[in-house]
Amino acid sequence: MPTTNRRTFMQAAGAGALALAAARQNPAAAAQNPEASRQNLGADADDTLTLGVIGPGGMGSNHLRLLAARRDVRVAYVCDVDRQRLDKAAELAEQTSGRKPQAVTDMRKVLDDKAVDAVFIATPDHWHAPAAILALDAGKHVYVEKPCCHNIREGRLMREAVQRSGKLLQVGTQSRSTDCVREGIQRVLAGEIGEVLVAKAWNSQRRGSIGKSQPTQPPDHLDYDAWLGPAPLVPYRSNMLPGVWRWWYDFGCGDIGNDGVHDIDVAVWGLGVDQHPTTATCLGGKSFFDDDQQFPDTQYAVFEYPAEGAPAGRRKQLIFEQRIWSPYVQEGYENGAAFYGTEGLLVMGHTQGWRLYGPRNKLLAERTGGVDLVAHHQNFFDCIRGKQDQLNADVHAGTLSATLVHLANISARVQRTLRFDPQLEQILADDEANALVGRNYREGGHWSVPRVG
Ligand SMILES: NC(=O)c1ccc[n+]([C@@H]2O[C@H](COP(=O)([O-])OP(=O)(O)OC[C@H]3O[C@@H](n4cnc5c(N)ncnc54)[C@H](O)[C@@H]3O)[C@@H](O)[C@H]2O)c1
Repeated sequence: MPTTNRRTFMQAAGAGALALAAARQNPAAAAQNPEASRQNLGADADDTLTLGVIGPGGMGSNHLRLLAARRDVRVAYVCDVDRQRLDKAAELAEQTSGRKPQAVTDMRKVLDDKAVDAVFIATPDHWHAPAAILALDAGKHVYVEKPCCHNIREGRLMREAVQRSGKLLQVGTQSRSTDCVREGIQRVLAGEIGEVLVAKAWNSQRRGSIGKSQPTQPPDHLDYDAWLGPAPLVPYRSNMLPGVWRWWYDFGCGDIGNDGVHDIDVAVWGLGVDQHPTTATCLGGKSFFDDDQQFPDTQYAVFEYPAEGAPAGRRKQLIFEQRIWSPYVQEGYENGAAFYGTEGLLVMGHTQGWRLYGPRNKLLAERTGGVDLVAHHQNFFDCIRGKQDQLNADVHAGTLSATLVHLANISARVQRTLRFDPQLEQILADDEANALVGRNYREGGHWSVPRVG
């Protein structure tokens, strides 16, 4: 596993000086007002980067809106296996940038074009690692949505592809580039609340039921075989799209890997751990929904790490809680992370702000601030151009948080505590659980099944 110094994140604070301040505070609003963004986002015409956006659906179209509004990049391709979404994306890119991108349904057309410098991948989770690895091996820099991998093994294969290609990979955990979050974490890592022994992340919100469905024909506008890609050839169901694939084992990682992974990522960062845990346990199941969702709607996970530099046997804990049937927030934040230090507490909602308390819950500092997607793009582009030397969410950070997601889901499935070898990335003495470190690909193979070695 590559070892990168997480502390240098803080030195890179202030990334993206060219970005529009308002867009940073509110990327959704900026995405709705591309003209204002176009006038302000980047201006270095000689350094124009040529991009492809793969999977411009929900989140992918947010990326596309912001990217097409920039003058320092050119969206040359949009790629989607859903014709309706592809047409909409091509129209959005043209309206926003004034230039028509090539609209393709096969990502290999994007990857084969030597002029493309980087791709943004916002497909469903089961395509993240296969697409990213192909792109890296094709010589592209990669921005890939979170969780960066659908299982633990694919995370390792992604890191290997980053190493062998020498290309950059940024994971779509934009909190890592959000100034407000960075300041909060900097305070935690600087010792303002003493030694942090425990961090907790939570996902507390009310989701809808996905209902129950029977196999049916996919819609005409969708190339379902291409959508499945390397996944097993299971029949299409009406409650797989749009976005509902998240709740199916073959394609998603549940809400812990969806909204939860953002806060888990923040918790890992502030806890100051730079490796995988050695123990993971999770209890969970479906306490509320009576539908096809395969992942828990109620989930409690604990991970233990050896505490670096502490007396032998001392450990740090990371806790994750999820109740996706709660029409109320927890500790002031719908999704959040809390850091329990020996001298104080910092509670953070990565899209809202944080509060820092000392002994007897005295409020010592607080800050509010929204999420900053533009800054995350900027950090990626600055690193490609050599203007910054540290990606804020590199493949190492991405696989640290994704691995917690996968360990929690595996533990909940087998209903056992797992002993994990952080170097080998194997679950010890439990063949049933260890089999879930990887996945089954479709029978007969597929061109996107990740390359090994
Ligand atoms: N960073 C964030 O804040 C954030 C927010 C929302 C979603 N996400 C992530 O974005 C990803 C997409 O989520 P979504 O809600 O937009 O899903 P979605 O289903 O709405 O969009 C995915 C798109 O990818 C397309 N697609 C599927 N296979 C493809 C392939 N082989 N080639 C090209 N296109 C393909 C689909 O047709 C669809 O248009 C997920 O990984 C999710 O976790 C991140």
